[in-house]
Amino acid sequence: MTDKAEYVRDMFASVASRYDLLNSILSFRRHKVWRRVAVRYANLHPGDITLDVCTGTGDFAMDLRNAVGEKGTVAGIDFCLPMLEISARKIAQKRHSNMCMILGDALHLPFADNSFDCVTVGFGIRNISDIRMAFQEMARVAKPGGRVACLEFTPPSRGFWKPFILLYERRILPMIGGALSNREAYTYLPNSIGAFETPKQLAEIMGSAGLTKITVKGMNFGSVCLHIGIKS
Ligand SMILES: C[S@@+](CC[C@H](N)C(=O)[O-])C[C@H]1O[C@@H](n2cnc3c(N)ncnc32)[C@H](O)[C@@H]1O
Repeated sequence: MTDKAEYVRDMFASVASRYDLLNSILSFRRHKVWRRVAVRYANLHPGDITLDVCTGTGDFAMDLRNAVGEKGTVAGIDFCLPMLEISARKIAQKRHSNMCMILGDALHLPFADNSFDCVTVGFGIRNISDIRMAFQEMARVAKPGGRVACLEFTPPSRGFWKPFILLYERRILPMIGGALSNREAYTYLPNSIGAFETPKQLAEIMGSAGLTKITVKGMNFGSVCLHIGIKS
């Protein structure tokens, strides 16, 4: 494991118990809508076999489950046990027998080639040390014709909203995150967003990982972006 991976895993372990609460407060509950939009655009069908990479507390996986129904399958994978334990509790509460959570690394997915109709990653790719390899792995386990959907924050581009987004991300977010959880983690968040690829660069990386027909959809004044690619 790289230093970055260890740092990221320990950081999420430290915020796990309040992760969902902070997501709702800091996004004004919009994070739920972003994932639902992503699932809608990923064009899932009842009975589909799906994988959510960097699943964390499992909210994206739950939305996948709603789309594929009881005949479908949802696997989630994450390398942070405290985050996964929360997702496992949610699954137990809902009694979803067709969901499973796996402790593992996005860079070494423990699945055979061509296994999934759809692979998602939500707010996870920015934290992975080798983005290209992560997309190669997601593309590898997707079936031919399957989709790989990536939902992620993007560095604010020029425009009217940029100063407001920067003010919120760099000042307000660490303040609230610090008061309610771990200030370091909520300082890492805007820093990692600022250093992250633009939507165009991300689409190029997905293309170089073997995905085609990449569509890009901006949300939340351009601060959140959904990329969907197809495995040819
Ligand atoms: C910001 S959380 C996103 C959680 C969830 N997908 C969501 O939409 O709320 C990022 C997650 O990525 C996980 N993660 C980061 N790098 C990883 C890797 N290389 N392998 C597996 N999980 C990873 C972290 O443990 C963390 O749970």
